[in-house]
Amino acid sequence: MKKFFQIFLCLLVISCNNDDDSQQPIVGGPTINPSPGEPEYLKDFANYPIGNTVSAAELSSSSNTNMAFKEVLNNEFNSVTAGNDMKMYNMFPAADTYDWSDGDAIVSYAKEHGMRVHGHTLIWHPEYSIPDWLENFSGTDEEFSLQVENYIKATVAHFAEALDDDGNPIVTSWDVVNEAFTSDAEAAIFRQRIGEDYVSKCFQWAREGDPNVKLFYNDYNIAGDPNKRSNIIAMVNDFQTNGIPIDGIGMQMHLNHDWPAPSELQSAIQDIANTGLLVHISELDVKVNYNDDVTELTDERAQAQSDQYQRVAYYYRTIVPPANQYGITIWGVRDQDSWLSDGGTEWPLLYDDNFEPKPAYDGFVEGLKGNAP
Ligand code: XIL
Repeated sequence: MKKFFQIFLCLLVISCNNDDDSQQPIVGGPTINPSPGEPEYLKDFANYPIGNTVSAAELSSSSNTNMAFKEVLNNEFNSVTAGNDMKMYNMFPAADTYDWSDGDAIVSYAKEHGMRVHGHTLIWHPEYSIPDWLENFSGTDEEFSLQVENYIKATVAHFAEALDDDGNPIVTSWDVVNEAFTSDAEAAIFRQRIGEDYVSKCFQWAREGDPNVKLFYNDYNIAGDPNKRSNIIAMVNDFQTNGIPIDGIGMQMHLNHDWPAPSELQSAIQDIANTGLLVHISELDVKVNYNDDVTELTDERAQAQSDQYQRVAYYYRTIVPPANQYGITIWGVRDQDSWLSDGGTEWPLLYDDNFEPKPAYDGFVEGLKGNAP
């Protein structure tokens, strides 16, 4: 009888696994069902989430612009990252005091629309990202450290409580530390007050806050700066050797239409995939006018930009093993809303100012489909 039960259990496990294959698994968050019929929207072309940035204010607004924004968001994307609302300055207004209201609003919107939330970001050094009170903290280093430890643990634990109707977490991941490999003087505050090993401490605190959420290290120029890439990989290897919890690497991917070169992009994605961790293209955008040498988005630049978007999606799809594909997040919808807008002359995103898809959109889709540029 016992044997029979064991065989039955085995069969059950196998059949459940088969079910998982027909519905593409994603790390936490909504199950991706293959769309019936021809794929139509960005999220239909990928077996991993395709994300964008949001703010609580725009999600609750019913202005014409925000209604149009939400239509694009709901149709095309199934993952969201808070552009700013889940940064330290917004969530940690005073000592021992947390304000998660904006993040909570984003989480409930995501839940309602079957999206996952990528938490961004627990620790980031720019002056405007650190609350003033913490920057000017007059207590001891131990007290400073305890403030940060409690904030990380409490925040991660708080967002772990939000579940979808099947009991899966909505917030499936956090950028624990953002941009630690910088010489910016501002960044020194965490190193000086918590210690040289502050990054690994933050990861351990986050893990204590939630045993399951995926923990990411996130940075820019991982593709464009091979030196920085090696340093990040060395840190990750060190974490892996020493049992410091880390699940993934976020490659921000703020690119130009002609930089980095295709071979550099390719080897960067390969190098990061070789760590064996999850890979998130976490903040993709592609500037076309960093030299200010055009006054409009020319056909030639639009095509170069489209090719660059296509390359990122193509390399991601073909290089990163499916189990490690955490998703691709674009940093904004319309050109004019981009953080890089620079007076509106960078045109870095997939949509023009009327929410019309640009050639970049088509290139991105081709890459998602696995077509090389
Ligand atoms: C940017 C936001 O988009 C802007 O609105 C804000 O003024 C500054 O931060 N790398 C990151 C993101 O990790 O958090 C940044 O977002 C863009 C660069």
